[in-house]
Amino acid sequence: MADKVYIFDTTLRDGEQSPGCSMNLDEKVEMAQQLDRLGVDILEAGFPIASKGDFEAVKAVAAEVRRPIVAALARANELDIDRAWEALAGAARPRLHTFLATSDIHLQYKLHKTREEILKMIAWAVGHAKAKCQDVEFSPEDAGRTDRSYLIECCHAAVEAGATVLNLPDTVGYCLEPEYEQMFRDVRTRVPGMDHVVLSTHTHDDLGMAVANTLAGLRGGARQVECTINGIGERAGNAALEETVMALYVRRDVLPLYTDIRTEELFASSRLLTRLTGVAVQRNKAIVGRNAFAHEAGIHQDGVLKNAITYEIITPQSIGMPSNSIVLGKHSGRHALAKRYEELGYQLAKPELERAYELFTQLADRKKSVYDEDLIAMIDEGFEHIPEMFSLKLFQSVSSNEGRSTATVELEKDGAVFHDSATGDGPCDAAFRAIDRITGVPGTIADFSVHTVGPGTDGRAEVVIRARFEGREFTGKSTSHSVVEAAARSYLQAANKAAYELKRSEGPAAVASTSVHKNSEVDRLFPGGY
Ligand code: KIV
Ligand code: ZN
Repeated sequence: MADKVYIFDTTLRDGEQSPGCSMNLDEKVEMAQQLDRLGVDILEAGFPIASKGDFEAVKAVAAEVRRPIVAALARANELDIDRAWEALAGAARPRLHTFLATSDIHLQYKLHKTREEILKMIAWAVGHAKAKCQDVEFSPEDAGRTDRSYLIECCHAAVEAGATVLNLPDTVGYCLEPEYEQMFRDVRTRVPGMDHVVLSTHTHDDLGMAVANTLAGLRGGARQVECTINGIGERAGNAALEETVMALYVRRDVLPLYTDIRTEELFASSRLLTRLTGVAVQRNKAIVGRNAFAHEAGIHQDGVLKNAITYEIITPQSIGMPSNSIVLGKHSGRHALAKRYEELGYQLAKPELERAYELFTQLADRKKSVYDEDLIAMIDEGFEHIPEMFSLKLFQSVSSNEGRSTATVELEKDGAVFHDSATGDGPCDAAFRAIDRITGVPGTIADFSVHTVGPGTDGRAEVVIRARFEGREFTGKSTSHSVVEAAARSYLQAANKAAYELKRSEGPAAVASTSVHKNSEVDRLFPGGY
């Protein structure tokens, strides 16, 4: 009989801590709800000691999402574990996940501790966690580069102290498949008391081996896998959930394992993460990339038309990717629009549908056919969670191939209209500077990308910007027929997010308040109060 593989999603923890992927509290809760719909078994909601924001996010996810186990990460010390437990207080099914590095490299250069000291710390930390929570996971960080006999001792100490899950991370993405598989065999057979302990994989993609190593770990006896949507995560990322799950599904003939993931929610989960973080997946990304089911070569197209099985090992429907069979146009009504959104994985409430329909009719007036990409872009843009402090009312730019460009912007805040102009190295730079002049503090661009949305020359441009305000990065995303306008809107969206987050870190009262707080970071950022 096939064994179940438990899917431990760490998008909100290991994924979220990677550059450009940060989410605010509402965004994390929305993502957690989608992960619940997807059917993940365990959801790692954050690292509560890391920041107040992480603590609050774990607390909110634990309160909102009741079916999956909610895990919180803690280093192997009292303060971390107590804080994680406090954040999990309202969870229906809490798990404390504590970790400590075990490789000699980490012991010598990072922790400055002896092997004996580390063994004691593991036993103490797991015991301390166990006294609070039945479900305790221990990770010997950098297990992949840890001396094997010592790793066995560390795992033994954790199991004796009450760990219910042992996670063996390839923290730096260094292992090759046979090595990673053998590590699981060794731990499973050489650590006493493993009968009731679940072994878990946790792999990073530095050598492009994360999913392959995850499958190797399963062959070695793991039954939990730690992974993230779109493979986001530290450096090159973590094992991608969608790739792992579909590999297990498609090749169940050789790996007799199953997951409880609702694969038809994979595309919607990927899209939602892209929308929330502004970080798009590359076109050729396995499973959820735009080209994953596109056949360009004539021979392939011919084969697929005769029988899709010739070149397709997965159907787009099985991951919930809608087929492009209906193209909406200006004669399409609300009903057709709602149905299309449903197929794309969006359940729109009535007011949202009204707003979407309004945007749709505006677009359909300008564009003959409205494609799925257009509809998704409209939602991405039209339903932001962050209250807009400044909204863009008017935008004009003048540029030439010689000399500097000029932009004029008009922003509205609480009914008052502000306008200003600036020059810059190109029209986008001029627009950003004009926005800065109104908001008061300049942002700097960390990343700027442009994609076309939908086929044809009448398509819209989607601009994703990462901008740095007061030392922190925020993303903005917008689409428009004009690249410069999309850039200006994206930049303003990032600035609005910055204001909201900075204000939130001052506490709930500050978020609700509209009064001016002298000397606060936000007030310097946005004079006139929030
Ligand atoms: O990569 C790693 O080692 C981790 C641990 C904290 C599990 O993310
Ligand atoms: Zn990791």
